[in-house]
Amino acid sequence: MAKREILIKTPEQIAGIREACKDASMVLDYITPFVKPGVTTEYLDDLMLRYIEDVLKDKSACLGYDPDHSIPYPKATCISVNHQVCHGIPGPKVLKKGDILNIDVTVIKNGYYGDTSRMFCVGKCSIAANHLIAVTYDAMWKGIEMVKPGAHFGDIGYAIQKFAHAQGCSVVEEFTGHGVGVGFHEEPPVLHYGKMGAGAEMKPGMIFTIEPMINAGRKELTILSNGWTAVTKDKSLSAQWEHTVLVTDTGWEVLTVSEGSPAVPSWVKTK
Ligand code: MF3
Ligand code: CO
Ligand code: CO
Repeated sequence: MAKREILIKTPEQIAGIREACKDASMVLDYITPFVKPGVTTEYLDDLMLRYIEDVLKDKSACLGYDPDHSIPYPKATCISVNHQVCHGIPGPKVLKKGDILNIDVTVIKNGYYGDTSRMFCVGKCSIAANHLIAVTYDAMWKGIEMVKPGAHFGDIGYAIQKFAHAQGCSVVEEFTGHGVGVGFHEEPPVLHYGKMGAGAEMKPGMIFTIEPMINAGRKELTILSNGWTAVTKDKSLSAQWEHTVLVTDTGWEVLTVSEGSPAVPSWVKTK
């Protein structure tokens, strides 16, 4: 029963989660210069695992993760390339110029979780790919802007879906954001589509992710036989960005920030 509630984090928990979130973002800063043509995704994953454990003294929340008691996730991070939507398993695949990829990192520091992902281009990528990446980044921020006490979780999904559709893109429905911080996937699911006023009300101290997956083509997915990786059914490109966000007394605070975080869009009002 208690597990179904949306947790309001204490100031002490918020401080711990803020540290975990900064570390997750630092992993993405660290790996950025290694994303180049000719490297394999498992090489990038190995480097990140070493950085998470040896430098940050954290743990990967993904390694061995097995929420459905079926196939434990075998790697430290998720690396989803081109038409892979999410949960791409790092492997011997060699990156080539023009590929786009999402790297998703969740760390555990002192028992607290931080979860974030960014998009990367291998060398120069197509105008269409750059557009999809930009639309998805702005869609995430359209969602973040809706966060404040008294707003509803549906408001986030509404803002994301409205923006993505106006840009000619589709929104993945099978995967959602989620409460996070003292566990990996907490209540509530944070839908990236929906209606204004739908869902629970946000309250100060809630912490959750906003992580829209946006496709250039149709929204439908297929899951690969590895049990984890989602790909677009029509093989169109897919992009995703993820931040962990705190509801403050007046609005929002993005917790997954570090020196290398991409700039906040100029149209976002930072209070
Ligand atoms: N980090 C992902 C998320 O944003 C979850 C990955 S679970 C894994 O929720 F097991 F695939 F790593
Ligand atoms: Co997440
Ligand atoms: Co994630």
